[in-house]
Amino acid sequence: MAEHNVLIRPVEPGDALGLARVQIDTWRDAYVGVLPDDTLLDLDEMRAAVRWTRVVGNLRSAEALAVAEAHGRAIGFCHGGPGRRAVAEAVDREGPVAEVYALYVDPSFQGLGIGRALLADVTRRLIAHGFESLALLTLAENRHGRRFYDHIGGAAGEPIPSVVVGSPADQVPYFWPDMERLVQRLDAPAA
Ligand SMILES: CC(C)(COP(=O)(O)OP(=O)(O)OC[C@H]1O[C@@H](n2cnc3c(N)ncnc32)[C@H](O)[C@@H]1OP(=O)(O)O)[C@@H](O)C(=O)NCCC(=O)NCCS
Repeated sequence: MAEHNVLIRPVEPGDALGLARVQIDTWRDAYVGVLPDDTLLDLDEMRAAVRWTRVVGNLRSAEALAVAEAHGRAIGFCHGGPGRRAVAEAVDREGPVAEVYALYVDPSFQGLGIGRALLADVTRRLIAHGFESLALLTLAENRHGRRFYDHIGGAAGEPIPSVVVGSPADQVPYFWPDMERLVQRLDAPAA
């Protein structure tokens, strides 16, 4: 991470296209054989950028969107906020649960500690908004992503049937009951 001078910073209004590019490049790399080829081929940068413009422009105060920047461009991001009903139900929690809606690192920059740093930054911000526990949903077939979440101590739940960009695909909930502990773990990589 240091060799690329990676900066982790809050999202800025001009980031939408960068977020769209990271998301699409990451999906096309990670989700081959997980989502249908046509779905991956049909992903459109401009359409995604319009969606991200809307998200960035309407960020709620309890949300956090951190961007990893290197060589003047976005190479990863993490977006979190209040848990949606599906995630709260999946982890069977009544109280407020925070959710990570998206965590993506450009394939050329994976394995350098950037995912860890982005998730730590967003988790810290969500703790400051009053959340204590964190959950997320990931594709059941996303083996690489799931190994990352296993590695950082997430407890996996039962797969739940969902529809992702129009295609049926099971999702698996991951849960961390104590976000302070998660931050400690993210801040202290195994030697
Ligand atoms: C999953 C993802 C966010 C991880 O980010 P990353 O920057 O590659 O991961 P890091 O380099 O920060 O890894 C942090 C730790 O997790 C471990 N790790 C990462 N991916 C792993 C894997 N597939 N299997 C086992 N360990 C893994 C690393 O070895 C590292 O361990 P250490 O620091 O204790 O030595 C990134 O690979 C990615 O965007 N993948 C594709 C999209 C995706 O699956 N997103 C998440 C689901 S929504």
